[in-house]
Amino acid sequence: MSVLTELAERLQDSQIGDAIAESRYLFPIFEGTHLLSLSFSVGLIILTDLRLMGLILRHVPVTEVLRQLRPYALGGFVVVFLSGGLVFWSEAATVMASPLWTIKMVLVALGGLNALYFELVIAKRADLDGNPEVLPRSVKCAGLASMSIWMLVIICGRLLAYIPRWGG
Ligand code: HEM
Repeated sequence: MSVLTELAERLQDSQIGDAIAESRYLFPIFEGTHLLSLSFSVGLIILTDLRLMGLILRHVPVTEVLRQLRPYALGGFVVVFLSGGLVFWSEAATVMASPLWTIKMVLVALGGLNALYFELVIAKRADLDGNPEVLPRSVKCAGLASMSIWMLVIICGRLLAYIPRWGG
C-alpha cells in the first residue's frame, strides 16, 4: 500500500471524515456548494474564454473583461477548492482508487498553469488594449485550451460519482 493510499485511508476514517460521510446534511451541503461554486466560476471562465476566442463581446477590450470577471472567478474557485477538500475528506480513499481522480487533479493543475501562462506570458506579449476586434492567435488558443480543460474537469468530477457502481 502506498503512502498516499495510507494517508487517504486515515483521512477518510478520521472523526471528521466519518462525521461528514455519516451526516444527513454535511455531505450534501458540501457537495452542493462544490457544484454551485464551480458553476459560478467555470461559467465566468467560459465567458472570458469566449471573449478571448473573439466569439462574444468583440467590441469590449479583453483587459476590461478580465478586470471585471477575474475577481469573481477567483473568489468562486476558493469556495470550489474548500468544498471539494471537505467532500474529499470524507471519501479520500474511495475516490483515489479511481484513475479519474488522478486525471481530474492533473487537469485542475493544467487549467491553473494555462491561466498562469496566459496572465504572465501571453497577455504581456499581446496588445490587449489595442483594437478589441483583432486578437493574436495565442490569445484565442489560450481561451480554447482553458474552456476544453475545465469542461474535461467537470466530466471527470461527474463520472467520479459512479465509482462505487463501477466497483460493484
Ligand atoms: C482541488 C480541488 C478539488 C477537489 C479536492 C475536488 C473534490 C471532489 C470530490 C471529492 C468530489 C466527489 C466525487 C463523488 O461524487 O464521489 C467532487 C465532485 C465533483 N467535482 Fe470536484 N474537486 C476539486 C475541484 C473541482 C473543479 C475545479 C471542478 C470543475 C471545474 C470540479 C468538478 C466536480 C464535479 C462536476 C463533481 C461532481 C459533483 C456531483 O456529481 O454531484 N471539482 N470533487
